[in-house]
Amino acid sequence: MSGLLITGASGFLGTALLAAAGPDAVGLTSATDVRDPEALAAAFADAAPAVVIHTAYRQHGPDAAAINADGAGNVARAARAAGARLVHLSSDVVFPGDGTRPLREDDPVRPVTAYGETKAAAERLVLTADPGALLVRTSLIVGGPGHAPSPHERLALAAARGEQDVQFFTDEIRSAIQVGDLAAALLALAETDARGVLHLGGPDAVSRLQLAELVVAAAGLDPAALRGRPAPPDRPRHCPLDSGRALALLAPDRHPRGVRAVFAR
Ligand SMILES: NC(=O)c1ccc[n+]([C@@H]2O[C@H](COP(=O)([O-])OP(=O)(O)OC[C@H]3O[C@@H](n4cnc5c(N)ncnc54)[C@H](OP(=O)(O)O)[C@@H]3O)[C@@H](O)[C@H]2O)c1
Repeated sequence: MSGLLITGASGFLGTALLAAAGPDAVGLTSATDVRDPEALAAAFADAAPAVVIHTAYRQHGPDAAAINADGAGNVARAARAAGARLVHLSSDVVFPGDGTRPLREDDPVRPVTAYGETKAAAERLVLTADPGALLVRTSLIVGGPGHAPSPHERLALAAARGEQDVQFFTDEIRSAIQVGDLAAALLALAETDARGVLHLGGPDAVSRLQLAELVVAAAGLDPAALRGRPAPPDRPRHCPLDSGRALALLAPDRHPRGVRAVFAR
């Protein structure tokens, strides 16, 4: 895709987006700090993007709120000033996860973690700065066999090898998605005129333990080596995404696979 600018281009999703988009896409890393509106303005002036996909963030640390929320607002203002369409990446953890059915776009946002707070604040700031933006809430992103492992996969492999003492939550349910599938779907959604919020996760809702077991089995290790426990009460537990609206906009060959198929041996 030409005219595409990707923030977070050195990250897990950003790398896959750059690969899927082809050589004309421009990637920004943290060398262009999203907290710095002037740096963004200069980068956007150089790239003159038609489409911006904003993936940059930090999950933890004292800078997370400024990067995730204020930074997203800055990116949205820069995209709007450049006349570019914005696709902003958000997360299933803007929800409390206290329900029993897959989450729809208009379910109430009520984060229960500090990270979820930053992503919920980002959504508000993005839509205020750029009401035409598309916000895509996704779930745990994985690579799968033959791809670079995500942090979630590295943790499962380290636990199975006895290198790290981890207990995986048995009741934190997520719509994990393969990174290349997500990248392809995002590029397709960027070409639609969809705006507002869309949910996009994989079709298999799995617990953190089930996901870790799939990862470990696909690597030829013993899933029985993994240990599980219930999540503490302050975690967003039940966050499968109802992705029906996004899927209706996507050709069948752009529908993400379930993680059971991704990790099938
Ligand atoms: N990973 C998941 O399981 C998951 C689940 C749900 C939603 N999401 C969402 O998906 C998006 C991408 O996640 P990811 O896993 O691909 O992230 P990632 O691998 O952690 O990459 C984060 C990227 O953000 C960049 N960055 C960090 N601070 C920055 C700053 N101040 N200014 C500019 N860039 C900065 C990093 O650059 P450097 O490499 O230069 O530091 C890196 O390129 C995020 O919006 C996240 O909320 C992810």
